Amino acid sequence: MEPEAIVVRDLQKSYGARPAVNGISLSIARGEVFGLLGPNGAGKSTILSMLAGLVEPTSGEISVFGVNPGRNRAAIQARLGLVPQDLALYPTLSARDNLVFFARIYGLRGKRLRERVDAVLEMVQLADRADDPVNTYSGGMKRRINLAAGLLHQPDILFLDEPTVGVDPQSRNAIFESIHALNRAGITLLYTTHYMEEAQRLCHRVAIIDHGQIVALDTPANLIRQVGEGILRLEIADGLVGAVKERAEQLPTVHSVTCRDHQLDIRVRDAQNALVGVLGVASQLNAKISGLQIFEPSLETVFLSLTGKYLRDE
Ligand SMILES: Nc1ncnc2c1ncn2[C@@H]1O[C@H](COP(=O)(O)OP(=O)(O)O)[C@@H](O)[C@H]1O
Ligand SMILES: [Mg+2]
Repeated sequence: MEPEAIVVRDLQKSYGARPAVNGISLSIARGEVFGLLGPNGAGKSTILSMLAGLVEPTSGEISVFGVNPGRNRAAIQARLGLVPQDLALYPTLSARDNLVFFARIYGLRGKRLRERVDAVLEMVQLADRADDPVNTYSGGMKRRINLAAGLLHQPDILFLDEPTVGVDPQSRNAIFESIHALNRAGITLLYTTHYMEEAQRLCHRVAIIDHGQIVALDTPANLIRQVGEGILRLEIADGLVGAVKERAEQLPTVHSVTCRDHQLDIRVRDAQNALVGVLGVASQLNAKISGLQIFEPSLETVFLSLTGKYLRDE
């Protein structure tokens, strides 16, 4: 038995001349929760589609449980659950009837079908609403039904494509709890998101993707230790923002400074340690500080350090 759930070597996908995925290599262990993190357009969904055998790679190799998904789609689909980014539910049918419909597509029948539908409704915590039409559900509840649909055939690996976008907090928590429960049951999870704090909480390892390439791959803790920077965010009320930036950049505790309007983001190794020096600079210049926020190192700041981009602004 191959120890890895997924092995990918130099995977590429181009649409016309433009590479959407540009040389990805990674392996995911059985039982792992693995995150693909990146902004919109980074190539996350394209990677999932290729791994699921739905999109043919331009080049590169893929093995999912030892099988090439492009060549043996049926074998992969029996073991893989895919919860896509876009919803596919019949709004006038109840959640239960939607799930019965999907279960039939998976070849489930009779008692087994009813058992599986009940089990997945429990799993996503919607058993009590199962007989209400889906068009009375919140967006988050619909996403939970989509997740349930991906679990009907008891896959060994589950792909979740941005499962928490536009989701209310209650549904988000239900999705997190499902992920934990599934993983405890031994299911491998591959999860895409552009919410870093979520990935930090859920994933054993993450690959940070930008422009179709992996810019870093490790455990969240290792990435934060190795690349993590703190950020001091200063709002300067008067016209002195440029002067503060110039002086702050000279400080030995400061890595770099970016400026947007009246706001300075001062990237530092250790936020607490750098704070006194930075405030000293502002004070010497008589600059009026109207706001101060301290961000400790996190996956969010790792991403910013590696790509120069703010994920939240995408
Ligand atoms: N079917 C397609 N045809 C043309 N371009 C595509 C297609 N699918 C994705 N792309 C492009 O590939 C890039 C990566 O897209 P995608 O994998 O959806 O990124 P993500 O899921 O990270 O937001 C984007 O620039 C997108 O416009
Ligand atoms: Mg996507």
